[in-house]
Amino acid sequence: MSALASAPASLSDGPFAPLPTPDPAPAHAFALRLGDGLALRLRERHHVDALADLLAAEHEHLAPSFGWAQRPGRAEAERQVGQGLERFANGGGWHADLCEDGRVVGAMWLHDLQRRGGSTEVGYWVRRDAEGRGLVTRAMRVLHRHFFEGRGLGRVCVAVEPGHARSEAVARRLGYTPEAVLRGSHVNASGRTVDLAFYGLLREDWDGPGADAGPLPLPRFALRVDDDLQLGLLEREDAEALHALVDRNRAHLRPWMPWAGEQDLAATRAFLEGRALPALARGEGVDGGIWWRGRLVGAAGLHSWSERPRRGSVGYWLSADAQRHGIATRVTRALLAKAFDDLGAERVDLRAAVGNAPSRAVADRLEMRFEGVLRRELPVQEGYADMAVYALSAAEWRARVG
Ligand SMILES: CC(C)(COP(=O)(O)OP(=O)(O)OC[C@H]1O[C@@H](n2cnc3c(N)ncnc32)[C@H](O)[C@@H]1OP(=O)(O)O)[C@@H](O)C(=O)NCCC(=O)NCCS
Repeated sequence: MSALASAPASLSDGPFAPLPTPDPAPAHAFALRLGDGLALRLRERHHVDALADLLAAEHEHLAPSFGWAQRPGRAEAERQVGQGLERFANGGGWHADLCEDGRVVGAMWLHDLQRRGGSTEVGYWVRRDAEGRGLVTRAMRVLHRHFFEGRGLGRVCVAVEPGHARSEAVARRLGYTPEAVLRGSHVNASGRTVDLAFYGLLREDWDGPGADAGPLPLPRFALRVDDDLQLGLLEREDAEALHALVDRNRAHLRPWMPWAGEQDLAATRAFLEGRALPALARGEGVDGGIWWRGRLVGAAGLHSWSERPRRGSVGYWLSADAQRHGIATRVTRALLAKAFDDLGAERVDLRAAVGNAPSRAVADRLEMRFEGVLRRELPVQEGYADMAVYALSAAEWRARVG
């Protein structure tokens, strides 16, 4: 049967039905899900205005503690979002919104994130109306699993200015050891040079996840597609796993993705560090690994994002043994939702070689409009192939999802 003749699934059926488990992260977020109604949403470029509003609303609450909170406004929000994305891209940390049941209630960030066996420093604040409920302590308990089990870190620390009773109480409640007071090492919110106290927890002193802890949440920022399918943002440390997957699937991928023929570990690193992560930091696209039932089975992304007109292209590949489960269709559907409903896309397209029936079938299942064939446009193993282009406009997307 020709792929183009396969019956398109309705967007309201089966894999497109609402999630059985509510998501603690806001819709379309790349989030670390902490369980118990909590999630950390990676701050992306388009969150700047919302963050500026939040910092303005919490100005009086935050200004006594943080120098940056003295000057709320769009420029400060832009600086924080940009710094967080740069850190994420360089593998040195991240900035995230702390969310409870989909609502932003504060922020957490990592400095100086090191590799396995190393250390990281965590910072945090919660809105005034969210204080006194143990949110940061709860979030930190799950993050310990993320740091120690998921990333293999050896130590986590927090830095506290003298007199910050609430912040210090978090460290003590979590069983952190007072390590050192660095005299005169920090300029506080009032511009005075003050001491900074460091509290740390070593992996060997951590008392583990607790008997009633469920499975380890996916230790990465991910777009949840459904309960067993997530698109996790790729990081530098994924190079080896990604390369191994390509290596096992060369024969399957090579006909339509010629890069897969020669992709060695260095080229995988160059892709992550030189293309995918800088594009994320600049707001020009996202590249995710597809985790299905806890296993990395492919990659997908929204590429070539432009602001005028607001548009991008979806792309994907799966390992041979993960095909025919609807994974590519469901992940692409989630990326379309992110593009239209979160990023305000005017148009999203999908491009596939004319002869690539499984890929064209994904576009058909999602009822994307076939726009024609650009001839000799796509590099493939055997030279250049004619390329079929499918697209949805924002109006067509709205008509399909109601
Ligand atoms: C293109 C590619 C990702 C398509 O993979 P796929 O498994 O056919 O696509 P999906 O994951 O959407 O799965 C659809 C299949 O699963 C079935 N399926 C099972 N459960 C499903 C569900 N819940 N929803 C939708 N389809 C489902 C469909 O019926 C279909 O099977 P069929 O072909 O026998 O009818 C894959 O073939 C591939 O990686 N190819 C090599 C790389 C490549 O070409 N990438 C694209 C470049 S443009």
